Amino acid sequence: MKRKVSVIGAGFVGTMTAQRIVEKNLADVVLLDIVEGLPQGKALDIMQSAPVEGFDRKITGSNDFAETEHSDIVVFTAGFPRTPGMNREELAMKNGGIVKSVVETVARHAPDCIIIMVTNPLDVMTHLAWKTSGFPAKRVMGMGGVLDSARYRAFLAEELNVSAKDIETMVLGSHGDTMVPVDTHTTLKGIPISRLIEKERLDAIIERTKNGGAEIVSLLKSGSAWHAPSSSVIAMVDAILGDSKRILPASAYLTGQYGIEDVHIGVPVKLGASGIEEIYETALSNEELKGLKRSADAVRETFEKLQI
Ligand code: APR
Repeated sequence: MKRKVSVIGAGFVGTMTAQRIVEKNLADVVLLDIVEGLPQGKALDIMQSAPVEGFDRKITGSNDFAETEHSDIVVFTAGFPRTPGMNREELAMKNGGIVKSVVETVARHAPDCIIIMVTNPLDVMTHLAWKTSGFPAKRVMGMGGVLDSARYRAFLAEELNVSAKDIETMVLGSHGDTMVPVDTHTTLKGIPISRLIEKERLDAIIERTKNGGAEIVSLLKSGSAWHAPSSSVIAMVDAILGDSKRILPASAYLTGQYGIEDVHIGVPVKLGASGIEEIYETALSNEELKGLKRSADAVRETFEKLQI
């Protein structure tokens, strides 16, 4: 069956996401942006790589959001990236208006799609998208946990000089500096990480992971990360289109799980054709649970300040 993914925002994250989707032959892609010519130009460039890269999926660019019609998935990357020194609330104010208006339009044209939010601050924007779309909670999710987990795994693999593929972890909570890495889920092929890295060093790696996005922002000076973020989106798109029932951390609407409700936050979910098919409650230490609740409070507080 033909699959279609629309990617909103033809900036760094959106374009790389679109490119990875067609290169992996996952779906046809429509790349959308408000800037005239930008998505068309980028889509044309990617399309011309098809003979060399060997993919068959179609990619087009457009400024007309009606073209999201019949999308299986719509990935939202529209909005501003963080600039050095900018806090979560400032970013929420800037991106909230954009996300709300684009979600309203997309919900009209693609009422059956699954929304994957990427625009930051992630959990706040995911919650806003869910409220604005009126979609069932299982069809609105945010990409944060896969990226935070990937960053943590990459740093741990570098520290231990092992393949990053053999590091397992689960990073929960809000995307970014209030994320909660779960100790019992962090292993090298089942070997607890605490047996391999001493606490002080591990704490430093966790701190670096929490600031993973900010570290890149400060190096780039303008703009933020896009390679690992787009890879992380692809893991979710692939799980949904392939109905593969993968267990990944994603920003999901909680209704009492972990003692938290009415907010979007990163938790382990099962991803399949209908979106979030299950939310898992894993055992957490008191400290981890406190961290998760702190994370949820921060998201709720920022969302309330938006007043939209
Ligand atoms: N509708 C569609 N596209 C829009 C709109 C809108 N209303 N407003 C802005 N855009 C587009 C911009 O024209 C731009 O092309 O969103 C794109 C954003 O691209 P970049 O500035 O390159 O930002 P990027 O690095 O891709 O990050 C986008 O993803 O990871 C997050 O924190 C990041 O929130 C940021 C988002």
